[in-house]
Amino acid sequence: MQRFDEGPATVPVRLGDRSYDVEVADGGWDRLPGRLRAALDRSWAGRGCRKALILTDDHVAALPYPGLVRDALETLGIETVQTVVPHGEASKGLATAASLYDRLVALAADRHTLVAAVGGGVIGDLGGFVAATFARGLPLFMVPTTLLAQVDSSVGGKVGVNLPKVKNLVGAFHQPIAVWVDVATLNDLPDRELRCGLAEVVKYGVILDAPFFETLEDDVDAILAKRPASLRRIVARSCELKATVVSEDEREETGLRAMLNFGHTIGHAVEATAGYGGAFQHGEAVAVGMVAESRLAERLGWVDAAFTNRLVRLLERFGLPTSLRGLAPRPLLESMGRDKKNKGGRIRLVLPRRLGSVELTDAAGVDDLRALLEDLCRPDAP
Ligand code: NAD
Ligand code: GLY
Repeated sequence: MQRFDEGPATVPVRLGDRSYDVEVADGGWDRLPGRLRAALDRSWAGRGCRKALILTDDHVAALPYPGLVRDALETLGIETVQTVVPHGEASKGLATAASLYDRLVALAADRHTLVAAVGGGVIGDLGGFVAATFARGLPLFMVPTTLLAQVDSSVGGKVGVNLPKVKNLVGAFHQPIAVWVDVATLNDLPDRELRCGLAEVVKYGVILDAPFFETLEDDVDAILAKRPASLRRIVARSCELKATVVSEDEREETGLRAMLNFGHTIGHAVEATAGYGGAFQHGEAVAVGMVAESRLAERLGWVDAAFTNRLVRLLERFGLPTSLRGLAPRPLLESMGRDKKNKGGRIRLVLPRRLGSVELTDAAGVDDLRALLEDLCRPDAP
């Protein structure tokens, strides 16, 4: 953490010949052309890049960032076209992807054409999916502008779109050539979106880094006040932690990357049950999911109540929900039964052992989960 205190940070994601850097700065766009040139020059596709499609949404299009990316690309002699899609999850589908393929055809795109995704996780996932699939793979440059995208979705190469009834079911692993984070983008971000990203930041502390969790406890006010040094620190450390996991288990095969799903099994069920875009946004659902999963770990004797209460306090200070009160337990349990981590008919969850350490386990049976959810969903539950 100390080393992220001064100025911009470069976080490497080590994946052999697909390695790349995540640059985390506050402004500093004059450095972008040089960084981008170096990133492009690392691959055959990038070296021949003459054209780029800049993808953004209508909210972000009104901000300076797509224009700053265009200027950097044009400084490098790369011709750009910009495509703006409506904001929101509805754009992350096959119909929008098809319209982007048409746009690339009209641009006479070839395998050197860069896709620059400037926006939140929707734009990153959609632009990444199009980059992964058009002409069997185009170079991808990520400029995440929400906290969630900066600490999670822009790093690690998971890209994809939603089907009408199932989120994120169609996708690929396609690593970007570079990720450029300007924490000043967060100044425009609505508070609720910032809080959603903070749930993922807290998650990294719980699963991998107890000292990081403690610095979050010390720094709540500065983070909520969007102090650039604090934002840079939490983004850089979160990316570093995610990069370590992704470098060791890029394709989620060994169980290591699955740890990033702490809070997400119950969280996804909450999100799906409450309806996407409804009462719980993703980060809010993850926050209540982390608390519920920690309560489950208590029942297994893995952590004590003080552990969960400490997590609750931090999430509440960040303005995040922590209770399942009033939700219906049955649909939650049914939804968890469809989780991608399940194996051999057993529900698998990531549960905490202690601060900074979690384990993927099927130690809790359906009866344990039913009893937990019935308890936590009671109208008088805390
Ligand atoms: P989002 O992209 O919908 O952005 C949220 C809102 O913020 C949108 O209205 C957007 O227009 C607006 N916005 C973006 N940047 C802004 C800025 N700087 N100032 C003001 N407004 C801004 O949502 P998100 O929360 O960033 O991402 C959610 C998506 O990410 C989901 O589709 C989820 O599935 C995906 N995701 C992917 C991964 C992964 O590993 N690929 C991980 C986590 C989440
Ligand atoms: N967001 C979880 C992952 O990237 O694996």
